[in-house]
Amino acid sequence: MSAARGLVAAQSARFAALDPLLPPAAEPPRDGHVVTAALADGTRVAGVICHESFGPHSTTRLWSAAEVWELVPLIGTGQGMDALLTRFRRHLDADEVGEDTACVVHWPSRDTVAARAFLDHGLVPLSVLGVRLRTPHPHVPRTLTIRRATPNDLESVLALSLAELEYSSLVGSTIVRPEAPALKRRALAERLAGASPIWLAERDGIAVGLAECAIVSSEPGTAAAHRLPRGRWGYVNCVSVLPGARGTGVGRQLVAHAHQELHRMGTVGTYLYYNPPNPLSSVFWPRQGYRPLWTVWEVRPASALR
Ligand SMILES: CC(C)(COP(=O)(O)OP(=O)(O)OC[C@H]1O[C@@H](n2cnc3c(N)ncnc32)[C@H](O)[C@@H]1OP(=O)(O)O)[C@@H](O)C(=O)NCCC(=O)NCCS
Repeated sequence: MSAARGLVAAQSARFAALDPLLPPAAEPPRDGHVVTAALADGTRVAGVICHESFGPHSTTRLWSAAEVWELVPLIGTGQGMDALLTRFRRHLDADEVGEDTACVVHWPSRDTVAARAFLDHGLVPLSVLGVRLRTPHPHVPRTLTIRRATPNDLESVLALSLAELEYSSLVGSTIVRPEAPALKRRALAERLAGASPIWLAERDGIAVGLAECAIVSSEPGTAAAHRLPRGRWGYVNCVSVLPGARGTGVGRQLVAHAHQELHRMGTVGTYLYYNPPNPLSSVFWPRQGYRPLWTVWEVRPASALR
């Protein structure tokens, strides 16, 4: 068994001990810069640094820096995160690093020993992938009209989606870029035309809430398999309530409906990303039954990695 294979197997054991919902550790990416470190106890750890740039027409730029260095750690069961982050920092010294940049690491939320290393190196827990297994939803009394959105609803869906982008840009990873309205319009028009599971909540005929979702399969070979147990999952991409209607129960009714419908579509559970510094969503999502599985540790600009 090669050293990398041994580390992947050990890391899978680490993940399983940390959290029963984590899938086994993925094979390291083939494209990327390999870093290694020897620890005081003689063990070796490794990682792959992947570098990616997103052009002005990429929707990724709405929630990401334009240029990202992502470390994929391979530390097995050991305590090597600190040593690996030191190598990550050194690797950046050799590159020209601009302002619209970030260093990113996805890591199991319950690995608090690694969390200490991330904090010490200047990374912040900017996003969390939260999961909710399929369970009967507590009854939520319905006072709103909730219905599937159609292509005719593009303007309402766009306005609500941009309201979420604007709020989240204050407390998380999203960025209000000048091209945001055009990029969102194009992406949402495609999703509405493709009959994606998108719901609107209406009060007196006015759309006050949006739940924009998708169905994602976690099967061997898919990107989702790196993050989620196998199966068909409901992805809650964007939930947004108009600023004046927040805190009045719109989100609770909308999410109860979305969960019910996504479960009816045969999903094993639902997942989403939220930002721990968001004072609304960080309370709202755990109350809707979500708990952290992965934390996305990030620092911007990338040169601020310590
Ligand atoms: C997060 C959001 C979707 C929640 O929808 P909402 O309609 O405001 O929430 P609800 O009124 O249904 O409240 C449900 C729960 O959320 C929490 N909550 C809502 N408003 C809150 C506030 N102002 N302060 C603290 N907690 C709040 C409460 O725990 C509440 O439960 P309770 O009524 O049993 O106490 C909505 O506030 C929103 O659009 N925020 C801005 C965009 C955003 O953050 N989207 C989510 C990105 S992941």
